[in-house]
Amino acid sequence: MKKSTVTLTNNQTGDSYEYSILESTRGSKVLDIRTFFSDSGMFTYDPGFTSTAACESTITFIDGKKGELRYRGIDIEALANKHSYLETCFLLLNSRLPSEKELHNFDLEIRHRAYLHRGLQKLFDAFPDNAHPMATLSAAVTSLASFYDEHIDMENEDEYLEMAHRIISKIPTLAAFAYRHSLGIPFVEPDIDLGFTKNFLTMMRAYPGGKMHLSVEGHEDIKDVEIRALDTIFTLHADHEQNASTTVVRGVASTGAHPYVAISSGISALWGRAHGGANESVIAQIEYIGSVDKVKAFIEKAKDPDDDFRLMGFGHRVYKNFDPRAKILKGLQDELRDELGLDTELMKIARKIEEIALSDDYFVSRNLYPNIDFYTGIILTALKIPKSMFTPIFVIGRTVGWITQWIEFKKDETSKIARPRQLYSGK
Ligand code: CMC
Repeated sequence: MKKSTVTLTNNQTGDSYEYSILESTRGSKVLDIRTFFSDSGMFTYDPGFTSTAACESTITFIDGKKGELRYRGIDIEALANKHSYLETCFLLLNSRLPSEKELHNFDLEIRHRAYLHRGLQKLFDAFPDNAHPMATLSAAVTSLASFYDEHIDMENEDEYLEMAHRIISKIPTLAAFAYRHSLGIPFVEPDIDLGFTKNFLTMMRAYPGGKMHLSVEGHEDIKDVEIRALDTIFTLHADHEQNASTTVVRGVASTGAHPYVAISSGISALWGRAHGGANESVIAQIEYIGSVDKVKAFIEKAKDPDDDFRLMGFGHRVYKNFDPRAKILKGLQDELRDELGLDTELMKIARKIEEIALSDDYFVSRNLYPNIDFYTGIILTALKIPKSMFTPIFVIGRTVGWITQWIEFKKDETSKIARPRQLYSGK
């Protein structure tokens, strides 16, 4: 039988080095080159980490060719269709779905921890009225580290789970407060009688005192369909393997910084248009396009190699087939078309973009399919959520993933400070 190794030969010197192939439980094998530098005196060069596995993980699995996504072994479709976001949080943190009693207790704990320290509330006043909620949110999460400035004992499960539950619970409150601050309107405190997703929508939309704004069309009582759609969006965002923001979270974790500072860094990384900021940009772009008859011209612009214009909500580093999260949301969007009033001009433009891009050779040959952000943008618009809150909503969903990855990193005895090297080409 052949050995599970790869031999690399330096054709200049004739030196050979042998490396083991590590078997994954699913997906690609991995070449273990940890000793390559000490063996050969050379670094590997891989900008954007397109061929690099930076850690071992049991949390999330993606098969980009098949369009498959699993959290702790469970297929995303089964999770999104049969389980709530809080069950998904429990699954990510505990590697199994909760029993009814465990879910009840987890839900209660998340409700109990949703309030903010009054001192932290004052932080919002320091920001200009028009501050983007992502800027405020990132700063507020860093500040949270000063209110819970404790050393986490990684041998003590209760301790690190408490730290995780606290951030999962407070993120919606911080996001809703960041939004209300951007409007200059008083905060609405979390309501212990409401479940996770309804509580967030209420904190965003309600009049001070918790009453719903009855006089504005579309801002009446929160509908079940809205809770279901948003809860599904949270679930689909809950984790996504070693994406850019998670890599940042692990990188900050590797320096020994506070977990909430690591999360705050993840929030900043997520804000970019190539990552979580795409959902806001999708709708901004559709609004900019303005009418169905202009779509073709913008598609041509996106195809022009001399123009850096990109079609937002299309393409993915890992999915070279349909993004399974996008598939679920497309189904949800079609299902909710009537209930959510999706037959708007914006929707017509979105459908035209989708139709042309899915049949155009430029997009087809590069495997550029609509990604999750294309559909979240559309569904969140139908839920009458303002664009500036799209990426904070991504943050709410992803926080559990970041903190689970932080825990995994801290418990991994092989983890080291993240410190890549470079190909020096200066003087
Ligand atoms: N519009 C037009 N052309 C595109 C697009 C796009 N959205 N995405 C990729 N391409 C082209 C790109 O120009 C390149 O063409 P060529 O081979 O001729 O040079 C080819 O497709 C490969 O692109 P790449 O940039 O090398 O691919 P990547 O894996 O490094 O980037 C991406 C992935 C998501 C950053 C990119 O597709 C993109 O910028 N998409 C738009 C932003 C977006 O929707 N981001 C959300 C991603 S999903 C959620 C998340 O992860 O947060």
